[in-house]
Amino acid sequence: MKTCIVPGSFDPFTLGHLDVVKRAAGLFDKVYVAIMINSQKTGKFDFAQRKRIAELSCAGLENVEVITADGLLVDLCRALGASAVVKGVRDAQDCTYEINMARMNGFIDESFETVLLPAKPELSFLSSTFVRELMKYEKPLDGALHPVAVAYISVI
Ligand code: PNS
Repeated sequence: MKTCIVPGSFDPFTLGHLDVVKRAAGLFDKVYVAIMINSQKTGKFDFAQRKRIAELSCAGLENVEVITADGLLVDLCRALGASAVVKGVRDAQDCTYEINMARMNGFIDESFETVLLPAKPELSFLSSTFVRELMKYEKPLDGALHPVAVAYISVI
């Protein structure tokens, strides 16, 4: 059984993330969406809220499970028996960042493998930062988040 992890801060989980998870679910038998800490970012949603938003967004994807985790990604991979990490990349800046992350993780554990999936053009403008900006100015989130996640956020 081939297992992968789609890690991220997911603050919040967007339709761009969902597309990457769906594509990973077609490539691997089991996908863990791992909500993790990015030490360079301060969060808007707490971990429980991020998990709920991701779970609502991924509902119905049978081989996908949403988890939260602290610690290092390489250790999570070992603990879950994952053979790869899957990340979406939107542009050259993302590629540079993710290739560097992949190399650092490979330095810590040489068995660590990263698969980069290019974002679909129509989703490539979308980011959690953009969603948080929309929220700050009380703009609608439709088309950026799953409709069920939009409904959840409106009541928390
Ligand atoms: O969505 P993001 O913010 O790009 O996700 C980054 C994340 C959370 C996957 C990354 O910061 C991470 O792997 N955090 C866990 C700690 C770790 O393993 N850091 C890398 C060591 S070089």
